[in-house]
Amino acid sequence: MSKIICRCEEITEDEIIEAIASGASTVNEIKKFSRANMGLCQGRTCRKAIERILSKETGQKLENIKPSSYRKPVRPIKLGLMK
Ligand code: FES
Repeated sequence: MSKIICRCEEITEDEIIEAIASGASTVNEIKKFSRANMGLCQGRTCRKAIERILSKETGQKLENIKPSSYRKPVRPIKLGLMK
């Protein structure tokens, strides 16, 4: 059984590897293929693990992996704090 990488969307390591095998070559493409990184936490929990898997599967250096895009605010805040 493959381990869960993205807990919010319940995406496993095998599903991420499958996305890469299907042609995803960036974290954003993996996101579009699998929905990993699109959950409630917007990738705060899984982003680094996905980058490591992408690096390992493609042979790219980890420091060359472009981080995924994400929507702000990344943490819920009270509306009164927004001015
Ligand atoms: S754990 Fe992946 S989006 Fe939250």
